[in-house]
Amino acid sequence: GSPATAPTAATDVRVPVSPASPSQPPKMSSPQDFTFLKELGCGSWSTVMEAVHTGTGKRFAVKILSKAQLIKQKKVKYASVEKDALAKLSGTHPGIVKMYAAFQDETSLYFVLDLAPHGDLADLVKKQGSLSFRCARWYTAQIVDTVLWIHSKGIVHRDLKPENVLLDPDMRIKLTDFGSAYLSPDGDLSPRASTFVGSAAYVSPELLNRASKTTSNSSDFWAIGCSLFFMVAGHPAFAAINDYQSFRKIEALDYTFPEGFYDSAKDLVQRLVVLDPSERLGVEPKSSPAELRAHAFFTATSGDTDTPIRWDTLW
Ligand code: ADE
Repeated sequence: GSPATAPTAATDVRVPVSPASPSQPPKMSSPQDFTFLKELGCGSWSTVMEAVHTGTGKRFAVKILSKAQLIKQKKVKYASVEKDALAKLSGTHPGIVKMYAAFQDETSLYFVLDLAPHGDLADLVKKQGSLSFRCARWYTAQIVDTVLWIHSKGIVHRDLKPENVLLDPDMRIKLTDFGSAYLSPDGDLSPRASTFVGSAAYVSPELLNRASKTTSNSSDFWAIGCSLFFMVAGHPAFAAINDYQSFRKIEALDYTFPEGFYDSAKDLVQRLVVLDPSERLGVEPKSSPAELRAHAFFTATSGDTDTPIRWDTLW
């Protein structure tokens, strides 16, 4: 179509995320301010590139979203949701990928993000086969802490999965990909109407069921349980030959724990991967974030060299 509202020059459309400091740092407001190195990942309307900010020499991950693809695939909303969620959350918590700038040119939108040089949690689990008790517990605790934080800001991620959990230079997590998020206009996360979003193997049953298409923070708790299963088992709980078969398994709660699955991890998965969204551990009013944090998986000692999770010094 005719680009009636599309900008004709990059200079028309700079969208600074934060005001320039009085000391005037080198500008970061157009693709020309970066040298693009290599592709880190891609989706059907976006590509993530490793890039050097030429003004400072600092490395970033730049997410590039194609305007033509966003329009063609009717995903323009995803781009604005992702930017709004990152703008609201960026810099507020160590477990969330930081956005340093957002700008656009004639063809694309650009989000300048923290570079996660160690890939994502799915890659780590695939490489290692499965994670040790200590690793699975540490990563799960970080995911829980981060998700509880974003919920406290009135945001539901809705596409939480190991692929969206990046690993920073210190091997700590950085949650990313907020394109499917729900942003409450008033910070209230009580259930309300929504449409299907997310990824097959991690989607909660209530998001599948036409009769009860609601969004509440409980779908993220389901996904935390599925992610913990994946870290310990080495494969997704509801893996199937296609999305439809995954959905059927989810609705039937059709999954089994492999032999040797850590007991307290198994108990936590069984309290999160629950069909009724109101019955999941951590979900108010029947449970609470405090009850989730107090689960034995986080608090028990498994041996003399092991120390339980300390939420106050987690990061
Ligand atoms: N892939 C997607 N986002 C990324 C990031 N911020 N860092 C590294 N790889 C990524």
